[in-house]
Amino acid sequence: MTKVLVTGGKGQLGQCLQSISNDFKTLDFVFLGSNDLDISNNIEVEAYFKNNTFDYCINCAAYTAVDKAEEETEKAKQINEIGAKNLAHACFKNNVTLIHISTDFVFDGQVKTPYTEEDKTNPISVYGKTKRDGELQITSTLSQYFIIRTSWLYSEFGSNFVKTMLRLSKEREELSVVDDQTGSPTYAKDLAAVILKIINSKSQQFGIYHYSNQAEITWYDFAKEIFNLTKSSITLKKTDSKTFKTLATRPAYSVLNTKKIHTLLNFKPVNWQKSLDKCLKAITFDQNS
Ligand SMILES: NC(=O)c1ccc[n+]([C@@H]2O[C@H](COP(=O)([O-])OP(=O)(O)OC[C@H]3O[C@@H](n4cnc5c(N)ncnc54)[C@H](OP(=O)(O)O)[C@@H]3O)[C@@H](O)[C@H]2O)c1
Repeated sequence: MTKVLVTGGKGQLGQCLQSISNDFKTLDFVFLGSNDLDISNNIEVEAYFKNNTFDYCINCAAYTAVDKAEEETEKAKQINEIGAKNLAHACFKNNVTLIHISTDFVFDGQVKTPYTEEDKTNPISVYGKTKRDGELQITSTLSQYFIIRTSWLYSEFGSNFVKTMLRLSKEREELSVVDDQTGSPTYAKDLAAVILKIINSKSQQFGIYHYSNQAEITWYDFAKEIFNLTKSSITLKKTDSKTFKTLATRPAYSVLNTKKIHTLLNFKPVNWQKSLDKCLKAITFDQNS
């Protein structure tokens, strides 16, 4: 059996991994929440790795409150940078392959074509900077790593854009959503499957990879499709980032070029509408059961 540790195992991606873990019979999982293992505490991390043996560590733990990070800079740094550093050192010492999740927010968004793994990072928010610094801690510590940058994660678990839109469609008659940020939504269950396929493939082609569902859309387009598929009667309007002000600045364009990971695992890009439909069905099923 291949032993797999999942840190941040109670978050959105962690729960997605847990929900598909039974399909991967050769993998033996341990899921840890923040109360079980605080990745920002190096003493805890070292002790845990000393007392337990793993082949892979999937780090789903992160400070993900993008706007709050502008005010809680040190907390975001401790989790996203120092936490990644602690895991990287523990993985290096114990010969564990680290699979770490990063973000499209490491880029500044000043381009018009999808970002490749080789493109220069230039984060424009505290969250993006701490995630980029986490990547640097990993790449400078060990060679046995996969860093997977992803974007606009949603699922039936935790809080995310899809669930917020569904809630607002019940509370309001009209809603405005920004139409000047372009990216690709990603069903976190698709990402979870990709991560476990990497482990199953036993690939040694370590490095940085991009993964998202296949799309080049704005948040407005995303909301429109959510309301379309759920037959919502809400009136949807376009707005822009200047009108809808947020604490953190987000990249205007953050589509990721995903060719490298599709070649690695020999699979085709997943259409974003199909994945959204699957997720909406899972949410409806959860609500009815
Ligand atoms: N969500 C997105 O749209 C998005 C987009 C691109 C990339 N990503 C990246 O994808 C990954 C997964 O995101 P997600 O949506 O699953 O995030 P999430 O739902 O916010 O989950 C993050 C988890 O990390 C845990 N955590 C926080 N501090 C910790 C610590 N010090 N030690 C251990 N665990 C800690 C949290 O536990 P508590 O709740 O107990 O604090 C939470 O369960 C992250 O690396 C994120 O940066 C996310």
